[in-house]
Parts: sequence; structure tokens; C-alpha cells
Amino acid sequence: MIAIPYFTALTTYFSYGLLFVFGQFRDFFRKILDWWSTDNLQGYAPICLGLEDFYIRRLYNRVQDCFGRPLSSAPDAWFDVVERYSNDNNKTLKRTNNVSRCLNLGSYNYLGFAAADEYCTPRVIDSLKKYSHSTCSSRVDGGTLALHNELEECVARFVGKPAAIVFGMGYVTNSSILPVLMGKGSLIISDSLNHNSIVNGARGSGATIRVFQHNTPSHLEEVLREQIAEGQPRTRRPWKKIMVVVEGIYSMEGELCKLPEIIAICKRYKAYTYLDEAHSIGAVGKTGRGVCELLGVDTSDVDIMMGTFSKSFGSYGGYIAGSKELIQYLKYNCPAHLYATSISPPAAEQIISAIQVVIGEDGSCRGAQKLARIRENSNFFRSKLQKMGFEVLGDNDSPVMPIMVYNPAKVSSFSRECLKQNVAIVTVGFPATPLLLARARICISASHTKEDLIEALEVISRIGDLVGIKYFPAEPKKQQQVGMLKLE
Ligand SMILES: Cc1ncc(COP(=O)(O)O)c(C=O)c1O
Repeated sequence: MIAIPYFTALTTYFSYGLLFVFGQFRDFFRKILDWWSTDNLQGYAPICLGLEDFYIRRLYNRVQDCFGRPLSSAPDAWFDVVERYSNDNNKTLKRTNNVSRCLNLGSYNYLGFAAADEYCTPRVIDSLKKYSHSTCSSRVDGGTLALHNELEECVARFVGKPAAIVFGMGYVTNSSILPVLMGKGSLIISDSLNHNSIVNGARGSGATIRVFQHNTPSHLEEVLREQIAEGQPRTRRPWKKIMVVVEGIYSMEGELCKLPEIIAICKRYKAYTYLDEAHSIGAVGKTGRGVCELLGVDTSDVDIMMGTFSKSFGSYGGYIAGSKELIQYLKYNCPAHLYATSISPPAAEQIISAIQVVIGEDGSCRGAQKLARIRENSNFFRSKLQKMGFEVLGDNDSPVMPIMVYNPAKVSSFSRECLKQNVAIVTVGFPATPLLLARARICISASHTKEDLIEALEVISRIGDLVGIKYFPAEPKKQQQVGMLKLE
């Protein structure tokens, strides 16, 4: 639950309202001006229509310089951001040859593997020479290398499941696995803030979807009881199967899943659990094994464990880990396994090498040091931000730290001012968040030094004052909670 001050809610609604009305006026006059120009559609309807198109043209384009910033270096603790300019009021942006060296607070490079690594990089280069960049084939045709089998064994061992299957993209993992496992007559109960890949996977499955309040086990139980009592729509037959889908760390909230409570409820009602560990695997837990390790959950209690390699392991792709029977079934049935090109060999090698470092199989203790560093960095940064008076979402140990900004004008000013001071921050607003709940999302990495973090905190504090996003008094924190509008 996020508590937004009434005045902020009012000004935020007002800002969007103003932008909307102004945008509609501009569209109206544009239509009149374009009346005589021939756009020869020959009977076709315009392909880009509706509110999305309006939103992009009249709202997003105004601030698009804050998004999609091109980089010209690896996403390490510091990276090079290519400078851009616009000659048409931000409608189009042109790249210059100049770059700004910025502190990177935006990449999911949790363990610092995204840049050159003394153990991983030479192995990746060797695999590139040995196997080339692409297998040019799907897994069931000519696209399975010994490396892919090794990767699956390595992942299964790491996450603590009997078997695993890997895919070339994390997004595709969710969106193609859910339709294989669930279908008509089955029920998916999804956390209200699950990632878009889960939402689309669930929609594509044809299963009935019910949503429970974000990370609220009591509401999950209520939904489960109600649905089990009601059964399938119209026929009232019992559901063929029920699956509860949650994330380990919520990527826009930085919150840890209340996994022990959720597992207990799923067991009570005989529902399967599907856990997306995109942001938690490798990043939390004493040995990097994710939320199960951190929260003391036995991995055998989670039926389907999903994760991605594009965060902590500095590569790309996704995995599903589960029982041997489940993985075998997916290998015969999942279209992303049967018809999509397998993970690029160097990417697969990067994942294997990164896992070896994390578990100390490289013969060093760098993995343990990285894990200790990301925990210390995250907890240090979070507590400092809170003390400064920012409204920071999420839990301790989570490297994802959203700072609530709310107002659309403040989102862009915060992002631009930070960039001017060489701190690159990701800002997120509608439609990725609810309209009122725009935020800046900081991702902490083990590759950040204490000096980097202190420098970032100074800049963020200064700009926080300038833009006016310190919604709480600095120390003692969070006492002025009168007059708040509660939103989820
Ligand atoms: C929770 C969650 N699941 C899946 C994905 C998709 O992963 P990928 O970016 O590796 O395709 C993301 C991406 O950020 C995510 O946050």
C-alpha cells in the first residue's frame, strides 16, 4: 500500500489533466490544419489509433529524452551515456558524438557480471571462437550444444531442483510456459503487480485469471476459497488445476514476496506455485540462491521456479526449474523450446561461468564477496535515502529501490537533473505504473563502491530538494502521515 499525500495526488491529477486537455486541443487544431493534406489511406483505417497513440504523441514525446538513452559502454558501475538533442520539441532525438560518463543506477547488473570479468570473459571469448554467436537452430533441431545441457544441469543444481530447461529470453519464458501448463478449465491466481510477461502468458493460456492484492496472503486465501467454492464459470465443475503466480522480488516495488505464507496457503488449497525469481536469483540469499534461501523456504515446496539470466548473471535468457517429469513435459510441448533458436553459446557460457563464481567453483571467494557487497550496498543506500526523507519502497536486502516521485513533471526534471550531475537513473511512470504512482527506480550493484554510493546520495539529495520529492521530514522519519491517500 502506497500512501500518497492528498496535495500531491491533486497536483498529479491536475498535471495529467492539463496535459490531456492541452493535447486534445493540439490534436483538434492539427486535424483542421491537415484537412487539405492528402494522406492516402485508400480505405484503410489508420494503423496506430486510440489513446496509446495520443499518449505517445502528446505526453510521452515531451519527456522521451528521459527514456531509451543510448549507451556506448558496458553497463558497469559507471557507463557512457550518449548525448542527444532535439530540434523539434523532443519529437525526435538526434545522437551526438559526445558521451557523459555517468554513475549507473539503472541496470540490473546486481552482481557486477555485466562488464568484463576476470573469470567469465575469457571463457565467453573461447566459447565464441569455438561455437560462434548463434546456433542458428532450435533446441530440437541442431540447436542443442553440450553447453546447453551443461547449463541446464548447472541451473537445476544452483536453484535446488531436479531439472531445468532454458530459453533465449526471460520474457518468453513466462509468456510461453504459462500457456503450456495452463488452459481452459484451469485457474491462474496472479499477484496484482506481476510482470507483464506473466500477464501476457496468463492471458495467452486461455485459463481463467483472478488477481489478488499485491503480496497479500490473506486476500490470496480469500480468492482461493471463493474460486474453489464457485468452480468453473457456468458449469461449476471443479477447476482442472490452480496455479498461484508470484515474483521473488517485485521489480517496480523492490519488495520481497511473502513466500512462506503464500506457500502455506497454496499447500492448504492444493494449488501449484509458480515463482518468478528474475530479480532475486543470484541477488539475495546467503549463497545467492534467491528468496527461498533468504526466507527459509524449501525449494521442494515451490512447484515451478522461473528466473532470468539478464540480471545477476550478466547474460540473457530464462529458465524453468522443477521436477524431472515437468521439465520433460515442457521439452516436448513448449513452443519456445521447439521452434525458437536456442541461447547463443557465449551467453550460455557467461551464465555457467557466473554461477561458478557465485558458488565458488572458480576457486576464489569473489562470489561470496559480491553477495556480501550487494547486501551491504543495498541496505546502506536504502537507509540513507529513507533518512533523507524520500519515500522509498521495498524491503531490506532488496537491491531494487523505487523512490516515489508521483508528479509527471517531477519525473522528467528528476531524471534530467540527475543526468546533468552524471548520475543515470531510470524513471518509470504510467502505463508501467498506475497513473499516480510514478517513481525513480534505483538498482544497486555489487560493483558500486562506497564512494560511488555516497556521491550518488549527495546528488540525489540535492536534486530531491530542488524537485521537491522528499515527502517525509529527514530524521526522525515517517511521522507526518496525516492527510494521505492510500493507493495500491
Ligand atoms: C519479474 C520479471 N520477469 C521476467 C522478466 C523478463 O526478463 P528478460 O528481461 O530477461 O526477458 C523481467 C524483466 O525485467 C522481470 O522483471
